[in-house]
Amino acid sequence: MPRILLFTGKGGVGKTTVAAATAIKTSNLGYKTLIISTDPAHSLADSFQMGLNPIPTKIAENLYGMEVNVEYELEKHWDSIKEYLTIFFKSQGIEDVVAEELAIFPGFDELASLLHLLEYYQKEDFDVLILDCAPTGETLRLLSVPEVAKWYMNRFFGIEKKLLKIVKPIAEPFIDVPLPSEEVLNKIQDLYTKIGKLKDILESKDTSVRIVMNPEKMVIRESERAFTYLNLFGYRVDCVIVNKVFPVQAGEYFANWLELQKKYLEEISNRFPVPIFKIPFKETEIIGEKLYKLSEELYGDEDPTQVFYLDEPMRIEKENEHFVLSIKAPFASKQDLKLLKRGEELVIVSNQWKRIIFLPQSLALKEPQGARFINGELKIKFR
Ligand SMILES: Nc1ncnc2c1ncn2[C@@H]1O[C@H](COP(=O)(O)OP(=O)(O)OP(=O)(O)O)[C@@H](O)[C@H]1O
Ligand SMILES: [Mg+2]
Repeated sequence: MPRILLFTGKGGVGKTTVAAATAIKTSNLGYKTLIISTDPAHSLADSFQMGLNPIPTKIAENLYGMEVNVEYELEKHWDSIKEYLTIFFKSQGIEDVVAEELAIFPGFDELASLLHLLEYYQKEDFDVLILDCAPTGETLRLLSVPEVAKWYMNRFFGIEKKLLKIVKPIAEPFIDVPLPSEEVLNKIQDLYTKIGKLKDILESKDTSVRIVMNPEKMVIRESERAFTYLNLFGYRVDCVIVNKVFPVQAGEYFANWLELQKKYLEEISNRFPVPIFKIPFKETEIIGEKLYKLSEELYGDEDPTQVFYLDEPMRIEKENEHFVLSIKAPFASKQDLKLLKRGEELVIVSNQWKRIIFLPQSLALKEPQGARFINGELKIKFR
């Protein structure tokens, strides 16, 4: 099955650049690669300095790119469903314009690009599928779309299709809610099935998420949030890429920046227990030929399709009345362990080891109640 690599990160950190360089590397290694961009600003086309279509467009040997056309996708997958929803909302006394708005599926633009991923994954035309994602916040939303969409559809169309078919002609004259037509039901069923499959693929070992960041305070914080939530949703982050690292020769003017970045690079290694790749800040923007150079510099002899980190860095489970956060802590022993909670952060320090964990909302409001060690895993109870 194809390998899927998703690149995300805060706005402007270099997602498109890194995704494009990765695609170049994999295509050079002989993998037939498709890079998909969802960015309406078409920056992927700018990176490669050529026009890209909403279908796979050849860029070089083994390398194809496409830019998703959201409007078209929306029409293809959602139009008849939207029509029904509009009628439904109107029947509930909701104003025309508002009804139209409500009928727009939340996060559909993101879903559209994920459906492409599913399509090409199933077709097996390509060995590697690379997704140049939207900034972190939106990507998190996007990656929760399969979950949310399932919920939405269950809630809304929770009626068994077969049952509805029997009930509809009898019930419709008596109730004031219009029921969906066969066509709408089929579309919903189809979309629902696809979303389910998508979720399975994204959570499988075939998919890795890679967070691109810069050594800057705000960027690190947002990346941490993303890292925690990605883990929580069951996605596998297998490395992070720190872009725009000032080279030592940056000079006197950047002396402060060099100091700061040094500190932040250390923080990054405390906070992200996965391999870290670094890219220096270049003299000029990285487009065209420069992307090819970067692809070699970034991965060297490494194959970007490998899974750089296999473990599940953290897990949250509910045990009776409390939550248990499990994290891998291979070097620590319980004696020299210190736990410190600062608002949304949990700091774990031992002699040789330090981890800072950004806590999701469900834990941030609770207090840690002690820890246990089981099979190299630290289990922290919250209540
Ligand atoms: N290491 C680097 N050195 C110099 N310039 C860089 C570097 N990395 C990226 N750039 C430049 O920074 C700009 C932003 O990069 P890019 O478009 O890849 O970011 P992005 O994260 O995809 O942004 P967006 O959130 O808008 O999609 C581009 O002009 C790119 O050429
Ligand atoms: Mg981009």
